Parts: sequence; structure tokens; C-alpha cells
Amino acid sequence: MKHFLQFKDFTREEFDYLFERTREIKAMFKSYTIYHPLKDRMLAMVFEKQSTRTRVSFEAGIHQLGGSSINLTTGETQLGRGEPIEDVARVISRMVDLVMIRTFDQSIIERFAAYSRVPVINGLTNQFHPCQILADVFTYIEHRGDIAGKIVTWIGDGNNMCSTWLQAAAIFDFQLHVASPPGYAVNQSLISEQEKPHLTMFSDPMDAARNADLVTTDVWTSMGFESETDERRRDFVDFQVDSEMMAVARPDALFMHCLPAHRGEEVSAEVLEGGQSVVWDEAENRLHAQKALMEYLILGQVSQN
Ligand code: CP
Ligand code: NVA
Repeated sequence: MKHFLQFKDFTREEFDYLFERTREIKAMFKSYTIYHPLKDRMLAMVFEKQSTRTRVSFEAGIHQLGGSSINLTTGETQLGRGEPIEDVARVISRMVDLVMIRTFDQSIIERFAAYSRVPVINGLTNQFHPCQILADVFTYIEHRGDIAGKIVTWIGDGNNMCSTWLQAAAIFDFQLHVASPPGYAVNQSLISEQEKPHLTMFSDPMDAARNADLVTTDVWTSMGFESETDERRRDFVDFQVDSEMMAVARPDALFMHCLPAHRGEEVSAEVLEGGQSVVWDEAENRLHAQKALMEYLILGQVSQN
């Protein structure tokens, strides 16, 4: 049984397979072809933080594959009254086929997985957001082809998105250029020896963006860090992706953002809405990529057309 708790839980070969299935599943969706390989299968979604894209893409995705979902939030379940995660895992996983969890510390999802009888998917933790990077790498390849040897520039917080991009850099063999304000770099403990050669840190965001094939950023304040909002607004003021920054990247560079975006903070409205931005494709591809992921985790590799 496999889980998808971090991006590096899968091999390059598994990602190649998943992207192939994503293309096929997306084509079926676009041509209204009914495809129900997960008929009668049940996905439990556990949300300890808010969500729009993750909720909709998983719920729509499992339904489109013939299955159903149950949405559980902390406040409405015994999780909110302190039931141990190990007990919740043992109970839920006897009743459903697959579990997606969005929570705080990575250790929570790891504890859940250790006690689960069914595959567990990380729908975002404080440390990682593997489903988003799955969709993002797919989106880059869809627009520009192979990502190997390319420069991906991360501007801003060394957060869950940034550390997941770094895992992807080692697997897909691209370079990650990161510019973060002092004190907001990726936690060193999350960087493996294998990933180090793929990471270059810059103090000036313009230097990080120079010659980039992809420029990407995220909110200054992630979920769970709201008490630091005012301080972060001051600390990140020079870390906005704007037209001037996109101008030093390659002329065919793409702009990505996992969304939700704050126009005028981490990205200017002009860049977010501009011709280099593929943020809406990125969001849509969450649906297709996660359908391929759910199919793979439940059925393994299926014979391809
Ligand atoms: N990008 C992303 O995961 O969005 P949500 O928080 O809306 O799920
Ligand atoms: N880094 C952000 C991503 C939201 C999808 C957060 O964790 O809130």
C-alpha cells in the first residue's frame, strides 16, 4: 500500500505514469466520456484548515471516477474534542477506501498513515503541499515540455510550497532559485543531501528571477501563521512578483501561484492576470492530476489505451 505524504514518496517513473494518466483522464473529462474505475469507492476528506480548490477538486474528482466522498472538519467531528489521531485513523480507514488530510504538522499525517488500512494523501500540511506541486509540474510540462534543466524561481516565504518544489527539483532534475526575506528561508531540516545541489539561495529577488523559466510565489502568511500577519507584511514588502521582475526572467517564462492570491502583496494584479500567468490552468489541473493519483493509489497501474 502506498501513501502520498510528501512529493518524494513517489519515484520519477511513478510521476511519468501519473502524468500520462492525467493527460488521458483530462481528455476523457473534456470529451464528456464517462469513466468510473472507482465505482462505489469512498474517499474521506479531513480538513483541519480551510480550502476551496483542494475540497472541490477531490470531491468532484472522486465523483467523476464513480465514487463518493465524505467531508470531515475538525469542528464537526470528535477530532475537535481531542480524539487521538491514531484512533481516528483506525476507525475511518476500516470504512473507506482512501483518505485525504489537510492539517497542521506533518507528524499528524504521518501518525494517521501509520495506523491507516488505506492510502493517505497529504492535502497540505505546514511542511508540504504535494498535490499542488503534482499539478504544477504537470502544468509546466503541458505548456513548455520537459522541466529538466530549467530554472524555477521561488519568491517569498520558504513555506510548504517551497519545500515541496525543492523535492520536485531533485526528482525532475531542475534548479530551484529561492529568494526569501531573512528569517523566512526553508527550514534546513527539510532539505536532504539529494536536494541540496538543486537549490540556490539569493538575497535579492531580482537576482533569483534572472533567466528563470518559471517564476512562482505564494501568500506571505500561510494558514496557521495568522498571528504573524502584520510583521510579515513588513518583512515581505520587497518580495512582490511584478512586471519588472518578470522582465528579467526568460521571455517565455511562466508565472504560477497555487492560489488564493493577494494582489498587491506577493504578486501584482498585472502579473497574475497577465499573459505569462497560468494560474487558472494550474488550479484546473489539480482535478485531473488528483484523479490520476486516486486511481493509482486504489487500483495501481491500470492498462493504458
Ligand atoms: N491551492 C490550494 O490548495 O487551494 P485551497 O487552499 O483553496 O485548497
Ligand atoms: N502556503 C499556503 C498555501 C495555501 C494553498 C498555506 O499553507 O496557507
